[in-house]
Amino acid sequence: MPIQEFSAQDFRCLERVELHADPGFNVIYGPNASGKTSILEAIAYLGRGRSFRGAPTGSLVRHGQPEFVLFGRVEDGGRIASVGVRNSSAGLEVRIDGESGGGAAELAVALPLQVIDPDVHNLVAGAPEERRRYLDWIAFHVEHGYLDSWRRFRRALKQRNAALRAGQAVASIRGWNAEVAELAAIVDAARRLALEVATDSLEEAGRALLGSEVRFEYRRGWREGVALMDALESGTERDIQLGSTQAGPHRADLKLIYDERQARKLVSRGQQKLLASAMVLAAAETAQAALERPLLLLLDDPAAELDEASLARLMARVRNLGSQVIATSLHPETPIIDTAGAMFHVERGVLRRES
Ligand SMILES: Nc1ncnc2c1ncn2[C@@H]1O[C@H](COP(=O)(O)OP(=O)(O)OP(=O)(O)O)[C@@H](O)[C@H]1O
Ligand SMILES: [Mg+2]
Repeated sequence: MPIQEFSAQDFRCLERVELHADPGFNVIYGPNASGKTSILEAIAYLGRGRSFRGAPTGSLVRHGQPEFVLFGRVEDGGRIASVGVRNSSAGLEVRIDGESGGGAAELAVALPLQVIDPDVHNLVAGAPEERRRYLDWIAFHVEHGYLDSWRRFRRALKQRNAALRAGQAVASIRGWNAEVAELAAIVDAARRLALEVATDSLEEAGRALLGSEVRFEYRRGWREGVALMDALESGTERDIQLGSTQAGPHRADLKLIYDERQARKLVSRGQQKLLASAMVLAAAETAQAALERPLLLLLDDPAAELDEASLARLMARVRNLGSQVIATSLHPETPIIDTAGAMFHVERGVLRRES
């Protein structure tokens, strides 16, 4: 199982929480503001080094306290690893098996996870950045070396943008084009491959959750049929005016087509949630296959926005995945509960196992 033991100290409203997770299905229930989302956010932080709600790390420290500390014992292909994160005024410290110096990438390797929360619809309805991050997460887990290529591309792009903003001569800006284009090609190829690997899962999950055909169209971030090198050359004047590089994989997007229409604009909020959940489950399935081990899936109030039938389809798909699941609910009697697993109650930040 991905996570066996977990503890959080001074994270949001949680003074101290310990959780011994079931390898299968875990439910945490409790009233509004009891700390359900905080617990999931703390677990997710341990696997990502950031908040899944996009909250600044400083705001996650319990009011009046100097730091938060998270710890987990996680299973990585039969091996148990200790993962710790401490955030204090000195910054973020990551420790894996006692070794410090790691960062978000090392956490993601130790505790790969996906989240479905009430804001998951942003994956469909929100800015392209959400979908790029989604695609990059799959590429990171499926392709060795992707993170390194992505980081090198970001560095080259940053330098070109700095040259644009510093008002440097056109020739010196163009001096960055070859490197940007070369690294962009690697990132683009890796993203295409990641999407190709995930496509069957994506389409199948889309059909299962929405009962209709769902397709994904990848937009690479610059015009098809044009080499990025040429796009950068011809776009230099415009880039200078706008102060940033307009063409490249940092502008990529994933268009979701549902019923032959662009999902982002046309589907209802509940349908957006189902589409986004299909994307999340497909990413999890793809990474599980690549890593050959189950992932952790965090479901924060999965019942929100969904009618009974939709929720049943979502939960059937979740069970089908075979991941370790930690889900939250307002009430103990909830249709999300599977037969097996553990039940926890949380009240005012205090977590107790019930069964
Ligand atoms: N840094 C912090 N320090 C102390 N308390 C905080 C901090 N950040 C958030 N909180 C509080 O934590 C409480 C629990 O929030 P949380 O989102 O975990 O509740 P929840 O159980 O998920 O509620 P809901 O059912 O409404 O989703 C809230 O009252 C919130 O104000
Ligand atoms: Mg909540």
